[in-house]
Amino acid sequence: MNAVNDAVEILPDVHWIGAFDPTLRSFDIILRTANGTTYNAYLVRGSDGVAVIDTVKAEFADEFFTRLESVADYAEIRVIVLNHLEPDHSGALPELMRRAPQARLYISNRAPAMLKALLKPADDAQTLEYQTVATGDTVSLGSRTLRFLHTPFLHWPDTQCTYLVEDAILFSGDVFGCHHCDRRLFNDRCGDFRFAFDYYYAHIMRPFKTHVMSALALIEPLPLKLIAPTHGPILRDRPRRALARYRELSSDSLAERIDNAAPSLIIFYMSCYGNTAQMAEAIQIGVEENSNVQVSLYDLEGGEIAPFVDLIETANALVFGSPTINGDAVKPIWDLLSSLAVIDLKGKLGAAFGSYGWTGEAVRMIEDRLRGLKLRVPVAGLRIKLTPTEAELLACQEFGRALAAALVNGERGRVIDFADLG
Ligand code: FEO
Repeated sequence: MNAVNDAVEILPDVHWIGAFDPTLRSFDIILRTANGTTYNAYLVRGSDGVAVIDTVKAEFADEFFTRLESVADYAEIRVIVLNHLEPDHSGALPELMRRAPQARLYISNRAPAMLKALLKPADDAQTLEYQTVATGDTVSLGSRTLRFLHTPFLHWPDTQCTYLVEDAILFSGDVFGCHHCDRRLFNDRCGDFRFAFDYYYAHIMRPFKTHVMSALALIEPLPLKLIAPTHGPILRDRPRRALARYRELSSDSLAERIDNAAPSLIIFYMSCYGNTAQMAEAIQIGVEENSNVQVSLYDLEGGEIAPFVDLIETANALVFGSPTINGDAVKPIWDLLSSLAVIDLKGKLGAAFGSYGWTGEAVRMIEDRLRGLKLRVPVAGLRIKLTPTEAELLACQEFGRALAAALVNGERGRVIDFADLG
């Protein structure tokens, strides 16, 4: 029987040598981890030497080295592969390089700058030798071959997968991983971790759907006996289900496929005294006049963030309305805007409006945030002091017309500066 910190055999001479982190409750600050995570690293033995694929977070280095030592001597290590340089996988790299100085480090051709930034001179970065590899490059261990697939942005620009050709094992890095710590380690033994798998995808992979599709195009043609990611269970039972799920999550929604003719404009608003709500309704009337635009109106007071994020992902234009309270937009607006990092906003159009009593900073603050999120803001934000007059509601309609025109015609409009809003 294996000791607690022994390596775990995946196939003969292929071992898991990672670490368990069961008490972690948030990862990279933004991800919740209800039952922790694992940092998976692997050791592959060929007739001509040993390869170590990925390491672990620095705090877990002892556990990693103990497992490594249970199946190999440092002098046998000829190859070290880092599929991804984020510290949860590169943390034990400097010490591994010290213990196995003869080993050659293989990283993707997008990784060297990150390697140097992560491992400062004090960590021997300047003397660290490495070899960059690209899709199709191979390294032989004699009886076994490692082949590399560059899969950028999954999750950083440097990321790659490593395929063990003879055994049809994909060491996939963060791809197909999840934060789910289960010491039973293999997906056919673990509990139900589908939620963790989808949650991880939503926060790590979703912003990079086009890159996911490119990676799938590389991975899907491969024979696949097993997927060995860097977090969560090893997928040895029907590993292609993970590919199918990624393809499903990264494909256009059914709604998009059915109705992708009319660009969609969504107005989100909050209102204190009904004034911003009146503006929102008048803007909707203006947009509606353009039959080429599908317009929707949502009061944030009555909704939850997650479904709105899904809506925003498929929308073409986003218009946010907020009153100004104590010199700021209201919290639900900021909550929604701060939830958009998980989706690709490139190419969307943005705008802001709102009623105010004193100074009306909310509109310009929202516009600034929209620009920061890389949205195009083609029409100057609209502010109205307290109750809108009939003339001001007509101006709201005109604002809606201008937004619809910018959306349909792709008009770039005037670049708006803060000075324009004074
Ligand atoms: Fe698990 Fe992006 O590091």
